[in-house]
Amino acid sequence: MQIEYRLLPKHERKSPPPQGTVLSFGMLRTNHMFVMEYADGTWQNARIVPYAPFSLMPGSMCFHYGQCFFEGVKAFKHDDGEIYIFRPDQNATRMNHSAEVLCMPSVPVEVQLDAVHRLVDVERDWCPSEPQSSLYIRPFMFATQDSLGVKPSATLIYCIILSPSGAYYKGGFNHAVRLLITKKYHRAVSGGTGSAKAAGNYAASIRPQIYAQSFGVDQVLYLSADNTCIEEVGTMNHYHVLKDGTFVIPEFSDSILRAVTSVSVLELAAAGSIKARQEVVCLDAFIDGIRSGEIIEAGGFGTAAVVSPVGGYVFEDGTELVVGDGGIGGHSRRLYEMYTAIQTGKAPAPQGWLSKVPRY
Ligand code: COI
Repeated sequence: MQIEYRLLPKHERKSPPPQGTVLSFGMLRTNHMFVMEYADGTWQNARIVPYAPFSLMPGSMCFHYGQCFFEGVKAFKHDDGEIYIFRPDQNATRMNHSAEVLCMPSVPVEVQLDAVHRLVDVERDWCPSEPQSSLYIRPFMFATQDSLGVKPSATLIYCIILSPSGAYYKGGFNHAVRLLITKKYHRAVSGGTGSAKAAGNYAASIRPQIYAQSFGVDQVLYLSADNTCIEEVGTMNHYHVLKDGTFVIPEFSDSILRAVTSVSVLELAAAGSIKARQEVVCLDAFIDGIRSGEIIEAGGFGTAAVVSPVGGYVFEDGTELVVGDGGIGGHSRRLYEMYTAIQTGKAPAPQGWLSKVPRY
């Protein structure tokens, strides 16, 4: 697909933050975005244009029925001065999974990859190189048909914006988060949209998150709808580490997002670099495992969160369950270091994991 470039004149462009700036997550924008529309059964009008508001009808279906979803991808500047995107093919494939769940049209993976590489090329000066920072890439799709009937929208927009970002959780890897284990709120049910990056999943997570904060913790650890099993955290998959160093990730299902970080950790395990597996994780066994010392660490895996250690859990009756010493465990630290070394080019990446951004 032909992509048209309509770039701002150089003198009208904002400059990236100076080297050494401590970046927060998702607050900054670059000068341009990628946009294309879906109409008459086809994607069209692909372009890279200045970052600017959309003009949408108030009756656009995204505002009413939430037919929207997004992805999160990261690009890193390596010591050779080039920019590498981490596993964009995985996100493009998951984008099309979300599209299928939400009855929206897919975008060919090669079109998504071309768009993201060309946009990052235009904005290559915005890719930070400070530790724990990256150029966060946010592709998303939303329904634009001006119609109040509940049905798949006939028109849509696919867009990619960029945000030079630091760690998702304040303090990054060096801060162990705490999670609320609640039986009151659930993120997803079997047969629902939990495996998609549907905007509605995140809208529904805001009330539980505020509820969690009222207990003095960061996020919710979501359980299955019958409150028996551990599912995920909402901003990341969950993991725990056994005494023998094995990372255990809850088995993916249609109510758990297939985090690219979890998939990558499992691939590292298959290659023999670490020990990791998936299984259905029952809440009672998990609690017993922490109490008996069989489980020594826990945390979350996600593109934004990377590897985020969890120091402990709080229950709705106010009781606490501390994992290990409540801090950052050695297995999590080693995995974090291994993973980020791969992303930033300090260690060799498995074949196909890093995609160099061409100078078009
Ligand atoms: C990501 O990890 O990239 C996500 O999309 C999660 C989001 C809540 C920041």
